[in-house]
Amino acid sequence: MREECFYDTFDRKENLHFDSRVVHGALGCEPVTGAVSFPIFQTATFRHRSFDVSTGYNYSRLQNPTRQELERTVAILEEGEEGFAFSSGQAANMAVFGLLKPGGHVLLSDDIYGGTYRICQEIFRNMGCDFTYLDMGDPAAVEAAVRPETRMLFVETPTNPMMKTADIGALSKVAERHGLLLVVDNTFLTPYFQKPLTLGADIVVHSGTKYLCGHNDVIAGLAVVKERKLADHFRLQMKSRGNGLAPFDSWLLLRGIKTLALRMEKHDSNARAVAEWLGGHRRVKKVYYAGIGGMISFELDSEETAHRLLSNVKMILFAESLGGTETLITYPITQTHESIPDQIRRRLGINERFVRISVGIEDVRDIIDDLDQALA
Ligand SMILES: Cc1ncc(COP(=O)(O)O)c(C=O)c1O
Repeated sequence: MREECFYDTFDRKENLHFDSRVVHGALGCEPVTGAVSFPIFQTATFRHRSFDVSTGYNYSRLQNPTRQELERTVAILEEGEEGFAFSSGQAANMAVFGLLKPGGHVLLSDDIYGGTYRICQEIFRNMGCDFTYLDMGDPAAVEAAVRPETRMLFVETPTNPMMKTADIGALSKVAERHGLLLVVDNTFLTPYFQKPLTLGADIVVHSGTKYLCGHNDVIAGLAVVKERKLADHFRLQMKSRGNGLAPFDSWLLLRGIKTLALRMEKHDSNARAVAEWLGGHRRVKKVYYAGIGGMISFELDSEETAHRLLSNVKMILFAESLGGTETLITYPITQTHESIPDQIRRRLGINERFVRISVGIEDVRDIIDDLDQALA
């Protein structure tokens, strides 16, 4: 056999369908050895060939081939220009809000993830930025709230935890008319169900910890930009804050993403069945479900029923987080949304009777049986 160094180009994969793209990634195989599982480049630094000649890799805080493969893969899936893999979803969001200058104003979904709210209220507000929270499902109300100093619309759709949806296309028109950046947190649906950049968003962010990774074993964040000019900002943030995702964690995400399409299908069909079942249960007062994806919230008849459910589930795990293979049940009021002021939580409907479930990929009969026995 002839020995040669071969390269599989980034471009060749552009014609593949989504389910093939998740499997084959960006380069997919490692280009020098042909390793089918993209290697973990566990190195801090890279040797230079000679004076002023670099392989393109200098120091892993700046670039690392495993992280780059992940970044390119997610950029392909989101149909964006460039991707950035951060050490958490929070780190990705910190980089997004790092686009603001003192005096800048942002309009955000009114029931965003509590950690995003905390970044805005406890970090960027102290730096002179201002934030208004409102229902992003009403583009006219969003447009009416735009001020001369507004710089960004930040949208979760569906929202966490009330599952409210927004029309990204309509919001992109508002953003365009007022020269605003449109940022979409696509954690809940992933590019399998929704590609915000193709609908007019400028930046898409993810808690990669959730569906992209899919196995509840990594904390990670992703940001993908539509245009190259925004990429410089994210590169500077990562280089300066030193919050790029580590090589091994990048590899775990690459591995998780290979089954993204299969997992999302199963999360979606399981969740549909669970939502329907919950809707008919005598102790369930209201079901919050976007009709797509694996996330459901619901309100029970009493606080006591909620506590009993959380204590009595067996296969389902009472734990924070979402988007993994295991079904998780969460109590937003003391867990994910603990940072949101009580008055706002109550207005939204996040009370002691309210629980959120991330429907996993187990046999749906076991999920429903477990809920049934825990609610009995
Ligand atoms: C919608 C959403 N965005 C961002 C985050 C933050 O991500 P991470 O926990 O990876 O920092 C979360 C975490 O739960 C989330 O649910």
